[in-house]
Amino acid sequence: MSNHRRSFPSGRIAYVNGRYLPHAGACVHIEDRGLQFADSVYEVCAVLDGHLIDEQGHTERLGRSLNALQMEMPMRPAALGIVMRELIRRNRLRNGLVYLQVTRGAYRRDHVIPGNPELSVMMTARSMNVAAVEKRRSEGIAVVTLPDLRWGRCDIKTTGLLPNTLAKSEARKRGAFEAWLVDSDFMITEGTSANAWIVTGDGVLVTRNLSHNILAGVTRAGVLTALKSVTGLPVEQRPFSVDEALTAKEAFITSASGGVIPVVSIDGKPLGDGKPGAVARKVHELYSRLTAATVAA
Ligand SMILES: Cc1ncc(COP(=O)(O)O)c(C=O)c1O
Repeated sequence: MSNHRRSFPSGRIAYVNGRYLPHAGACVHIEDRGLQFADSVYEVCAVLDGHLIDEQGHTERLGRSLNALQMEMPMRPAALGIVMRELIRRNRLRNGLVYLQVTRGAYRRDHVIPGNPELSVMMTARSMNVAAVEKRRSEGIAVVTLPDLRWGRCDIKTTGLLPNTLAKSEARKRGAFEAWLVDSDFMITEGTSANAWIVTGDGVLVTRNLSHNILAGVTRAGVLTALKSVTGLPVEQRPFSVDEALTAKEAFITSASGGVIPVVSIDGKPLGDGKPGAVARKVHELYSRLTAATVAA
């Protein structure tokens, strides 16, 4: 067994194709198409205080990703919710993430997609370092810009994440937390695992419009909903350039794993006064209030 597998803490439980299994030994077949072709989609859902956040948004996006790749939902949304909650219970998770992956299953290796595939469904749950997330929220993060080397359907949440992992690792080497990916027109698409936002000098919040070039972030959607109910925080959904980002008053990222996190520098240049901004803080408060209300409902 490799060091990585040995380092999985015992006591964790995973879900694989209808069974709850010890995490350290949970596997799919070596000829699973998810492994061989990244022929698979996934979701990551935050768990806060034992509650799944934005469950409906994640389940709906899973349906859209599967549909785009001509795969069926492996079970009804309500059943998915039951499995996710059971996994949270079995792992005694308070704050963390549920990871859910659906692959086209195990077949003799062939590029041609099999008809009526028997999908593999797997889920894991893991705790989150809440203190580390809150530190990032209070101190802000650095981002660097890197070329967007991904394919033409970034709206499908597939596990074909090699360009994302390479860019995020390069960002870490450069002392930044995240990379913002830049298209051939020098416009920012999104982060490697988060949507990108700026606040212009006039106080307008800008995030890229939905298209095949970015993932429709569930947190992004939640933030847009939260912003609808307030005045004084206008939003534009449009591409923005690296230059516009560098001269922005503020910036932040949104994702299920971190919520709203302020960006304080881009490519080593401080944004505004180099401290987390008031708009990002307000957006975090509004989004948190919205998710708390949804969980309580
Ligand atoms: C490329 C990319 N963009 C955006 C996001 C943010 O999406 P969400 O808010 O649904 O987590 C993610 C999340 O993993 C991502 O991988």
